[in-house]
Amino acid sequence: MNRKVTVVGGAGNVGATVARAIADKELADVVIIDLAEQKAAGVGLDMLEACPIEGSDSRVVGFGANDEGWAQTAGSDVVVVTSGVPRKPGMSRDDLLQINYKIMQSVTEQIVRYSPQTIIVPVANPLDAMCQAVYRLSGFPRERVIGMAGVLDSARMRTFIAMELNVSVENVHAFVLGGHGDTMVPLPRYSTVAGIPITELLSPERIEAISKRTADGGAEITKLVGTSAWYAPGSATAEMVETILKDKKKILPCSVFLQGEYGINDLFVGVPVKLGARGVEQIVQITLTPEENAALQKSAGAVRELVDVIKV
Ligand code: LAC
Repeated sequence: MNRKVTVVGGAGNVGATVARAIADKELADVVIIDLAEQKAAGVGLDMLEACPIEGSDSRVVGFGANDEGWAQTAGSDVVVVTSGVPRKPGMSRDDLLQINYKIMQSVTEQIVRYSPQTIIVPVANPLDAMCQAVYRLSGFPRERVIGMAGVLDSARMRTFIAMELNVSVENVHAFVLGGHGDTMVPLPRYSTVAGIPITELLSPERIEAISKRTADGGAEITKLVGTSAWYAPGSATAEMVETILKDKKKILPCSVFLQGEYGINDLFVGVPVKLGARGVEQIVQITLTPEENAALQKSAGAVRELVDVIKV
């Protein structure tokens, strides 16, 4: 294949799910980088051995996070960063701030060294603050650092809407903006079933319950499984990678560096963006009600508190 995607932390749950999805769909060759060198090699080989069955000629390889391994990532089209410590039950995403920031420092340095033209998709938590760290550390233009959060949060909301109305998930679109944390902002007015806003189909109480379950979606899985979710986060990340590699220009909610859009300055926050081969090709601005805007600003404030702590 002539495309290459590197998944940093690719032997972990989320990273492996992303790597497998990319290989299954034959989107690119995949380089897995992980501190666990032997596991990375094994996970990569296992995925490669699945490719004949899936009908994919993607080449998947896994390496340790050392110079020899990083050299294999050279010239990646996209680098997904799933490395970092996951949540344990009772922890908030914010509890991971300092430790994952340190990991972003070493990882970003290697990405810039080996793939100076790549597009980085951070996935580690606390998501928006880690995006801002990677953005500042990389010196990349804002178009090439795109955080995965909104696609996951919207997928959770779509799931709950489809369950509630007993309709196909394919009929359901949902929009969740703001930071990837407790203050995220589900937007019922822009969430639709076959084009019909859910505000026409569900009571305010049911919509409130769905919005709350969406905002608590990560914690719900963490409590059940004992660690962070990976299937939905992995699928969400793979959708972003596919959109970029195929230059599909899908509009997806992603965490991007805002410079005045939505009245927010110099901060990563989730908003709708057009994704294509150049990364963020447009930030789509939609009109918010005063209440929706207040919720978005509050969510941005929560992200700002975190980036202030790590001074990025
Ligand atoms: C979640 C974690 C990955 O939302 O943030 O499941």
